[in-house]
Amino acid sequence: MTSILILNGPNLNLLGTRQPEVYGTTTLGDIEAQCTEAARSLGLTLAFAQSNSEGAMVDMIHEARGTHDGLILNAGAYTHTSIALMDAISSVGIPTIELHLSNIHAREEFRHTSYIAKVALGVICGFGAHGYTLALQAMANHLEATS
Ligand code: DQA
Repeated sequence: MTSILILNGPNLNLLGTRQPEVYGTTTLGDIEAQCTEAARSLGLTLAFAQSNSEGAMVDMIHEARGTHDGLILNAGAYTHTSIALMDAISSVGIPTIELHLSNIHAREEFRHTSYIAKVALGVICGFGAHGYTLALQAMANHLEATS
């Protein structure tokens, strides 16, 4: 069965209470439950993870090789800084969708730069928690079209 890893970066463990005016009130646990349901109806196997540590995220991307067919990555603030995450994605060659709850292009200038976008299939941002299920649908379509 096709397997997808959804990986969340720093501070996303605080969703629900973190700046609700920007990120909404849905918790990461709620999002995982929504994704589990969406993956089931799309016939996908899902792994869902979060880390506040850049190195741990690099390790998880390396470990995804041979285990997962697609990566959906909300790298949080590392999106805007991490050449290491960009290189990890290039190194494993797993199709990757960049995801954000907020519309990073409508926010501060420093959020307009993304190292992840340079190696991603595409970017979904600005649709809040619903973006996660949109990303799963987009990944399922991509993997179906390229299988
Ligand atoms: C975020 C956007 C990033 O700029 C920010 O640092 C985050 C969350 C989002 O999902 O909107 O931590 O990735």
